[in-house]
Amino acid sequence: MEYREIIKYGHPTLHKRASEIENIDKKIVQTAQNMVQIMHSAPGIGLAAPQINQSVRLIAVDLSVGERKEDLTILVNPVILRKEGEDISEEGCLSVPQIEEKVKRPFHIQIKGVDLEGKEKMFEAEGLKARVFCHEVDHLDGKLFIDHLSPLKKNLIRKKLLKRMENEQ
Ligand code: NI
Repeated sequence: MEYREIIKYGHPTLHKRASEIENIDKKIVQTAQNMVQIMHSAPGIGLAAPQINQSVRLIAVDLSVGERKEDLTILVNPVILRKEGEDISEEGCLSVPQIEEKVKRPFHIQIKGVDLEGKEKMFEAEGLKARVFCHEVDHLDGKLFIDHLSPLKKNLIRKKLLKRMENEQ
């Protein structure tokens, strides 16, 4: 199985809008399988296709990190239909390593999308689950969790990340 690494902050694919998926072909199914594998081994509770440099609207969420099969949700072209309430919690991202910040998210959401069999899905989520779906759908719009912070805070984090990347080279 082809392995793709998680791309990091600053990579152009993370900062642009991903394309709608018109056809759930073999390549999309393969991408989804890669995403699940990479998410579980990271370990992470959510991953969006742009994070493995595939600019398509595809996300995977699994709060159990591979413990419970029924917890894994793969959604093609996800859309958040309704947002309710407010929840402020620490958030991180596999593409923004070693940074955690409090982010305001809706407490309750209604989301729809299509599964890998092409079946329409619509469900509600709250708390951490709602947060992860919002975070992953943001990725499809080229938005990272640090884009929700104040310009001052974001700038500080940006400098920190750039400095760290320089040191890694
Ligand atoms: Ni993320």
